[in-house]
Amino acid sequence: MIERIEWDDSYLLDVQEIDLQHKKLILIANELYDVAVGDDSSYKVLMPKIIKKLSDYTVYHFSAEEAFMKRYGYADWNIHKIAHDNFVNEITSQIKKLITGSKDDVLNFYKYIVNWILTHIAKTDKIWASFVKGK
Ligand SMILES: [Fe+2]
Repeated sequence: MIERIEWDDSYLLDVQEIDLQHKKLILIANELYDVAVGDDSSYKVLMPKIIKKLSDYTVYHFSAEEAFMKRYGYADWNIHKIAHDNFVNEITSQIKKLITGSKDDVLNFYKYIVNWILTHIAKTDKIWASFVKGK
């Protein structure tokens, strides 16, 4: 059984604009979790909508974060962007397979994205955030 993963304030970067977006990403991911463990009729209607919302918001958030890094003169923003782009490519290909997948496949997808996002925040976003805060 895949557990619901909750936002935890230890993931805050102390960069308000980006922290709010990270929290929202986890909220949308948890909407996906809730429909995947819920009843079949709402699952069928809501799953594709939430997947689209999640993928659109991820792309929006990454562009906002990249713009933020550039605005603050973080020189390695383009290296960081590669990690974002790879993740978007990966989830795009996983999403294509989910159309014919089961609820378990959706839960595995959920687990993958939440773990990726939280690890990325804790290890990679932390680096640009400490640069920005030191300015
Ligand atoms: Fe990032």
